[in-house]
Amino acid sequence: MSNIRIFDRKVYSGIPTNRIVEIRDIDNNTISYCKYYLDYIGKNTIIVDINTIVHYRNLGYASYILNYIIRKSKRNYFKTISLDDMSDRSNLDKNLYINNGFKYLEKGFPEMIYTIV
Ligand SMILES: CC(C)(COP(=O)(O)OP(=O)(O)OC[C@H]1O[C@@H](n2cnc3c(N)ncnc32)[C@H](O)[C@@H]1OP(=O)(O)O)[C@@H](O)C(=O)NCCC(=O)NCCS
Repeated sequence: MSNIRIFDRKVYSGIPTNRIVEIRDIDNNTISYCKYYLDYIGKNTIIVDINTIVHYRNLGYASYILNYIIRKSKRNYFKTISLDDMSDRSNLDKNLYINNGFKYLEKGFPEMIYTIV
């Protein structure tokens, strides 16, 4: 994972997305991105969408982004990170989110939560 750069910026289109973090290669092409929302009142980060372009999958980019967001949420003294798992690996024993410490909630939405300790 060399020669990559990470960009984290505000976006103003669409609610509830208000930030996007991207990993870009040396030519400034986006490899992986995550749209997310910082709820300062609820002290919860909401992951809205995460995506890695096909050619770069299974190389750890989405995990890198999730861990970036976990660290950032910790710095902000947030309590949780939540998401709705709409992927085709939803509810399997092993997937991107389980690998990175998220847990399924029993029912309803959000479906998964990461608890910051
Ligand atoms: C899910 C996704 C973002 C993972 O990106 P990535 O950069 O390949 O992720 P990483 O390399 O950090 O992690 C790979 C892990 O993701 C898991 N994974 C692959 N496809 C997945 C999927 N659709 N949902 C959840 N996890 C997935 C793999 O099992 C792998 O874990 P393993 O090594 O234990 O098998 C990517 O496959 C993708 O963009 N898929 C299409 C969009 C999508 O489904 N987004 C999630 C919407 S909720």
